[in-house]
Amino acid sequence: MAQGELKSSVLNRKRNPKSPVASRSSKRQKIAEHRKSLPIASEEEHLIKAVQKNDILIIVGETGSGKTTQLPQFLFNAGFCREGKMVGITQPRRIAALTIAKRVAEECDVPLGQKVGYAVRFDDTTSSSTRLKYMTDGFLLREALVDRLLSRYSVIIIDEAHERTVHTDVLLALLKKVQRERSEIGGGVLRGCQGRKVSPLKLIIMSASLDARVFCDYYGGAKDFHVEGRQFDVDIFYTVHPETDYVDAALNTIFQIHSEEEEGDILVFLTGQEEIESVERLVQEKLQHLPEDERKLLPLAIFSALPSEQQMRVFAPAPIGSRKVVLATNIAETSITIPGIRYVVDSGVVKARTYDPNKGMETLDVVPVSKAQAIQRSGRAGREGYGKSFHLYPERDFWKLEDSTKPEIKRCNLSNVILQLKALGIDDIVGFDFIDKPSRSAIVKALAELHLLGALTDDCKLAKPAGEQMARLPLKPVYSRALILANQFNCLEEMLITVAMLSARTSRNHFVSVEGDHLTYLSVYRELDEFLEERKAENSEAKAEKNMRKWCKDNFVNSRSLKHARDIYRQIRGNVEQMGFNVSSCGDDMLEYRKCLAASFFLKAAQRQMDGTYRALESGEIVHIHPSSVLFRSKPECVIFDELMQTSQKYINNLTRIDPLWLAESALIITKQMSDFNASCLNTTSVLSLV
Ligand code: CDP
Ligand code: MG
Repeated sequence: MAQGELKSSVLNRKRNPKSPVASRSSKRQKIAEHRKSLPIASEEEHLIKAVQKNDILIIVGETGSGKTTQLPQFLFNAGFCREGKMVGITQPRRIAALTIAKRVAEECDVPLGQKVGYAVRFDDTTSSSTRLKYMTDGFLLREALVDRLLSRYSVIIIDEAHERTVHTDVLLALLKKVQRERSEIGGGVLRGCQGRKVSPLKLIIMSASLDARVFCDYYGGAKDFHVEGRQFDVDIFYTVHPETDYVDAALNTIFQIHSEEEEGDILVFLTGQEEIESVERLVQEKLQHLPEDERKLLPLAIFSALPSEQQMRVFAPAPIGSRKVVLATNIAETSITIPGIRYVVDSGVVKARTYDPNKGMETLDVVPVSKAQAIQRSGRAGREGYGKSFHLYPERDFWKLEDSTKPEIKRCNLSNVILQLKALGIDDIVGFDFIDKPSRSAIVKALAELHLLGALTDDCKLAKPAGEQMARLPLKPVYSRALILANQFNCLEEMLITVAMLSARTSRNHFVSVEGDHLTYLSVYRELDEFLEERKAENSEAKAEKNMRKWCKDNFVNSRSLKHARDIYRQIRGNVEQMGFNVSSCGDDMLEYRKCLAASFFLKAAQRQMDGTYRALESGEIVHIHPSSVLFRSKPECVIFDELMQTSQKYINNLTRIDPLWLAESALIITKQMSDFNASCLNTTSVLSLV
């Protein structure tokens, strides 16, 4: 049967999946089919008409119906990107901006960064040819500082508006104003940034939740458009009794589904990276005890801090015959859709950050989800067919949940956004048209903090140049202030490294400095720099990357965050050089550097008590040094810190030992500042417990 064999081998060759041409065109075809199958596909014409007719449109649609990936492409095809204009799409999370831009670039069959790109803080892949720009809401807000009218955009889509992040809330109000201004300017009488012609702005608010009313009302009865989702039935299960340990309960449920239920992937909602990684390990361990043929369960993690190549793994189908179990934070509720999910396990909890303006303290707590979140979570099981959702709490507890999550603006430190609003020329913060107003005390506290940091004048106006400079830097105000001071203390290079390391949240093992965490960060960064410098001769980018990874591994430092820190350093060094700062170094004079830290972080100082605990000077809170700090054991008399967090206890972290006398110097300056501060503008006496 030689002929037969030959025939089949020819056939095989023709169908060889490894042939790049064949695989590319079949991939393209698959993508085209997928796009056509999305519920939004049949709405293209209606949607475009609705956008043309309405300046503000609220689009509501079931998660996975294709809003985020398809609508921008529809707009592009309908000519909204002519004359170099862009469609901007904001996301509350970096990871969503990243994964979605990658997906859309793939759908358009273009390299990322050309027609389709993403931009998030410290990582901008867009170019002058980018027309569909996915970005975080924070990034767009920052862009408004440079181009007030956002004149490069013909359409701005605020996606995932129901998440109500503080940046989304500020954008919702700001864009209302920008839209009004742009339509008043009309057909290009005035010109925006860099002389661009200003045309009217279309605004689209997209939301997955049921609650679109709030947005329609806020925009004076704006038109809403519903994209019909394809939602299959989902059977909901609750536990009979409350679970004492939801991690344990989640683990049991995963294995129960795996052994008893038909094929289909599992999506488990947990609270954060550490928990997810530990469940991943536990699943692996438990699998080892199962018979060989029952081991086909593939745990995959997804959370914001995960490197992007690993994030993409959850989108790939599980190998035939096996089942994926995706361990996710609330990111998988609405921002991303993972194909193949048929079973959902809902821990019923989420990690939420809250801020107490009176204590100046952030709390990161595991709290119950809202009803809307629980419903959204179970919906994930019914995307592709009938599904099941297992909630690890009794039904009666579901009815006790809050209806929806409190907007972030009501529970966060406002100093950053208020500084940005001031820089945008919005002076009346209390009277600003927020969709939900933050509390007066939170506003007052933030204004007072900004004043103490030198960003605002005595009558609460943006201080020039310090406030302007601080607003321009993509950093927390206190870090920007540290850079400005460091310029005066001649240790700007050291402070740039410190701030980059703090912003990248790097680990700090191994190069412990007795003075504290900041100096430890500094030496980690510099040791690596020296190491790379010595090997500069063998320089190729790949080689440098490899060297860096090896060094990090040998020294127990996370290479990804250190790389991130180096990128941040480069970017903010560029920023301060643009501002005309000369990046000088204090050399070995670490005293100057520590004094500069004290002057920068004076609002975050703590003093040791008789019993070994610390008192945070500003709020009077009793706090503990976090066990991961290099000063955990030595317990110096007085420290400045970067973070005050409540987890199991009130912890301060990222510390440096300082001399209490240095604080007195700062306090003198504050007293002087405060005496000039316009008291009718604010009531800030509580901030001064330090003095
Ligand atoms: O925004 P919405 O939730 O309506 O949907 P989308 O994010 O546009 O996603 C539409 C579909 O694209 C989803 O059902 C996913 O199956 C697919 N998708 C994907 O396969 N990979 C991605 N990285 C993003 C989306
Ligand atoms: Mg979406």
